[in-house]
Amino acid sequence: MSVVIVGATGHLGRLVVEELLERGTPAGEVVATGRDADRLAALAERGVRTARADLDDPATLPSALAGADTLLLISTSEPGRRLPQHRAAVEAAAAAGIGHIVYTSAPRADDTTLVLAPDHKATEELLAASGIAHTVLRNNWYNENYESQLYAARDHGAFVGGAGQGRVPSASRRDFAAAAAVVLADPAAHAGAVYELTGDTAWTYPELAATLSAVLGTEVVYKDLSTAEHIAALVEAGLDEGTASFVAALDANIRDGVLGEPTGDLRRLTGRPSTPIADTLRDLA
Ligand SMILES: NC(=O)c1ccc[n+]([C@@H]2O[C@H](COP(=O)([O-])OP(=O)(O)OC[C@H]3O[C@@H](n4cnc5c(N)ncnc54)[C@H](OP(=O)(O)O)[C@@H]3O)[C@@H](O)[C@H]2O)c1
Repeated sequence: MSVVIVGATGHLGRLVVEELLERGTPAGEVVATGRDADRLAALAERGVRTARADLDDPATLPSALAGADTLLLISTSEPGRRLPQHRAAVEAAAAAGIGHIVYTSAPRADDTTLVLAPDHKATEELLAASGIAHTVLRNNWYNENYESQLYAARDHGAFVGGAGQGRVPSASRRDFAAAAAVVLADPAAHAGAVYELTGDTAWTYPELAATLSAVLGTEVVYKDLSTAEHIAALVEAGLDEGTASFVAALDANIRDGVLGEPTGDLRRLTGRPSTPIADTLRDLA
């Protein structure tokens, strides 16, 4: 088995490489790629093969993918720009004769109003049309997405948002990385599967305030805002209008229940409980 990872310079990709190595995949069977391969030097020193792969520069892909059996395509980081990048990866995988693609998608990507889902839905459709065996990992929210709320709570005793009583079945990046590593270790066993990966419990923003109070040892208040008020608050905090609107739309999605409820898929794959958000926030604090 050899597995090539696109996005290994990112937070999730690095953790997937760690999980693969910890679970016994020989370092020489892992190809970690990134837009800047120099950032993978520490992995190369541990025997992991490294290569430059920039999905905006498809000429970099044939050599990066050559000889691999499986591709982990970690969704790229700029919503709206992702589809041509993902298409380049799928086309290069087909040309390289890769037998299985594992893709990190978004919750219920095929049937959701989640504002960042269209790229993921279209990529899932690309995979279905490719004829290549594949597995879709629909990762729900990372616990780590709430790092800025931790800092706001620490500095001001409060954080704002627009998610109302909406629930977030989050897990840590490490949990999602572990699930990816399980699938990559035996991709044929997961061919055609679409996993809705969530944490074991879902929580609301008022409950997050209580968690932050416990983590920081000081009272933390959650101030719930309308979407318009949320955008204005984010702009006042320094975000540009477009980013503020996008962030506020995500909270509005959460308010509408778009992230869903715990599914058990993550725990079934990893064989262990997911990491509670309190633990992640305590580590970050
Ligand atoms: N589930 C969630 O809560 C959540 C939250 C945030 C993001 N996401 C999604 O999950 C992905 C992984 O999360 P993360 O935290 O690991 O994000 P991250 O740290 O931003 O990593 C993104 C990775 O994608 C790579 N990438 C971006 N554009 C590329 C291109 N044109 N060609 C090749 N590689 C490219 C980045 O390379 P560089 O290192 O060169 O930038 C990086 O390795 C994100 O990209 C995003 O799609 C999910």
